[in-house]
Order: sequence, then C-alpha cells, then structure tokens
Amino acid sequence: MARRLLLLPALLVAAALAGGAGAQLSAGFYSSTCPTVESVVRQAMSQAVTNNTRTGAAMLRLFFHDCFVNGCDASLLLDDTPTTPGEKGAGANAGASTSGFDLIDTIKTQVEAACPATVSCADILALAARDAVNLLGGPSWAVPLGRRDATFPNSTGAGTDLPGPDTDLDGLVAGFAAKGLTSRDLAALSGAHTVGMARCASFRTRVYCDDNVSPAFAAQQRGVCPVPAAGGDDALAPLDSLTPDEFDNGYYRSLMTGAGLLHSDQELFNNGALDSLVRLYGTNADAFSSDFAASMVRLGNIAPLTGAAGEIRLNCRTVNS
Ligand code: HEM
Ligand SMILES: *[C@@H]1O[C@H](CO)[C@@H](O)[C@H](O)[C@H]1NC(C)=O
Ligand SMILES: *[C@@H]1O[C@H](CO)[C@@H](O)[C@H](O)[C@H]1NC(C)=O
Repeated sequence: MARRLLLLPALLVAAALAGGAGAQLSAGFYSSTCPTVESVVRQAMSQAVTNNTRTGAAMLRLFFHDCFVNGCDASLLLDDTPTTPGEKGAGANAGASTSGFDLIDTIKTQVEAACPATVSCADILALAARDAVNLLGGPSWAVPLGRRDATFPNSTGAGTDLPGPDTDLDGLVAGFAAKGLTSRDLAALSGAHTVGMARCASFRTRVYCDDNVSPAFAAQQRGVCPVPAAGGDDALAPLDSLTPDEFDNGYYRSLMTGAGLLHSDQELFNNGALDSLVRLYGTNADAFSSDFAASMVRLGNIAPLTGAAGEIRLNCRTVNS
C-alpha cells in the first residue's frame, strides 16, 4: 500500500511528460507582461459573435486546424508567399472552407496596441476559440498560454493530417491518436459541430447515398444540396439542425436520431465503440461540457513552440522579417 502511494507522484510526472511540451504552458503566462490580453480578446470576440454567430464557429475550427498541423503554432494563419504555399489552400482548409482570418487580424491589432510584440498569434487563437464556445452558450476554462508562432507553414501536413467528412470511425480514431488524443477526446471535440455550417460538397454523398441517415432529415438536406450536375456545392446547412447557433449537446441528440450532417459525424453513433459516449453527452449536458473543456486543453497542448523556439509574430499572416 505504502509503496503504491509513493509511486503515484512518479506516475503523475510521467503522465505530464506524456502530455508533451504542453506541460510548459501556463494559464498565467502573460499575467505580468500583458495582464489585459484576456479581456481584449474577450471583448473583440463578444462584438464579433453578437454581430454574427458564425464567426464563433470559424474561430473554433481554425484552432482545431492549426493544432492538427505541426501543433498549435499559428502556422495556419500564414498567407501564401511567392515561394511557399501556406496551409489555407490545402486539404480540408481549401475552397474557402475556413474563414475568420480577418477577425484574428482585428484582435491581433488590438492586442499589439495593448502589449506590443508580446502575445503570440497561437495564443490569441486559443483564447478566441475558448471565448467563442462560451459566448455561444458553452463552458469556459482556463487556457494554458505561452505558445510561440511558427516561422513556416506546412501545406503538406494540412493535406494529410486534417480529417475529411468521408472518414470512417477507424480513420478518425487513428487521426486523433496520431496527435496524442484518445477516442474520448474525439467524441467530445466532435461536439464542436453543435455550431457552424457545412457546404453541400461536404455532405452530399451522405444525404444521397448513406443508409444510416434519417429519411426525413436526408430529404430535407437534399432540398438544400442538389445533385452535382446542378451545382450548389457551396450551399450551406447547419451541422446541428436542432440548435444551430447554441453551443449545447444538440449535436449528440441529432446523431441519436440519424441526423448527423456529415458521414464522419454519424460514424460516432453507428453501432460502434463510441455509441455509449454519444448517448452520455446527448443526455447529460454537464458531462459533455466538462469533457469538452478538458479535451480542448489537450488539443491546445499539441506540440506548442515554447521558450526560444519560433517567434512572436507581429502580423499573424506573415513571419517577422
Ligand atoms: C472529427 C473529425 C472532424 C471532421 C471530419 C470535421 C469535418 C468538418 C467539415 C467537413 C466541416 C464543414 C466544412 C465545409 O463544408 O466548408 C466542418 C466544420 C466545422 N468544424 Fe469540423 N471536423 C472534425 C472535427 C472538428 C473539431 C475537433 C472541431 C473543433 C474542436 C471542429 C470544428 C468545426 C466547426 C466549428 C465547423 C463549422 C465552421 C463554420 O461554420 O465556419 N471540427 N468540420
Ligand atoms: C457583421 O456581420 C456581417 C455579416 O453578417 C459582416 O458583413 C460585417 O462586416 C460584420 N461587422 C462587423 C463590425 O464585424
Ligand atoms: C509537415 O507535416 C507532415 C505530416 O504531419 C510531417 O510529416 C512533416 O514532418 C511536416 N513538415 C515540417 C517541415 O514540419
């Protein structure tokens, strides 16, 4: 018994190390160098989300797509240069599928005015994603900070490492495992699809061809999303048609009736290993909120640049010269 208790601290240290360099981030990182950063970001996000709720969804997706490519290092925010393609046009980011870069610019300008050359674009994105969730009615959490910004993008990684809407459950689990995230993280983080929109091109095959889709839901979505010959690739539908603008557990309740919009969404509830978690989150909003917040911290801990690595970018779209 005594020996087991003595082992516990060693195990905790091992667990922290397994969590990667994220262990170096801390919620108080800017408490003396930029004490107002959290309120500056919150205020800007509040204005943006009040004006247009979709901007909240956009920030949440940008954070995910940044963290899955070379870690949470703002590599996604870099524009193409004549010599180096950025990540914005690659893989799941392509085709104007990601948006909100102008809102990041607005926030960055305000943060630079308050605290010049101090706060990374990667940290601004982590705070903006947290505030988006909370402003749309979801939980809040302390965001570990201290990330630095990449000095190069990885368009190849954006092509290979971001999951697409036709991915099956095994592929989703493997893609998350490759980033150190569990299938429970996958189940919880997918709840981000309780807000925001998808293009017809992302859900056409599902609503015309899948056999595990609610017939009424499929018929309704086919009305939005015509067959390919008729165009309409960019027509939009809410990812959670029950409560499209609320950060709640409506996404899981939709899955439980076969009304997942993306093939990849419905894979989480298709007589597989994650069915029980979908049922838990769909029936217990508090369980979803607390697991989502914990998984967002784990997402944000993926391979950050810290210490002297990378830089504090002055403009989120370009590396410092
Ligand atoms: C599990 C694998 C995932 C897949 C396959 C996936 C795929 C997609 C697709 C295809 C879209 C629609 C894009 C379009 O049609 O333009 C989308 C939108 C979105 N995704 Fe995911 N996603 C996944 C996980 C996540 C995670 C982990 C988050 C955040 C934590 C997230 C946040 C969002 C948000 C908020 C939107 C809506 C964006 C908007 O309205 O502009 N997704 N996702
Ligand atoms: C408010 O939202 C609209 C789109 O809904 C956008 O065109 C406009 O630029 C936004 N205004 C501000 C101040 O963000
Ligand atoms: C880009 O991402 C791929 C896929 O994760 C990775 O194998 C590669 O090392 C990355 N390249 C750079 C330069 O970081």
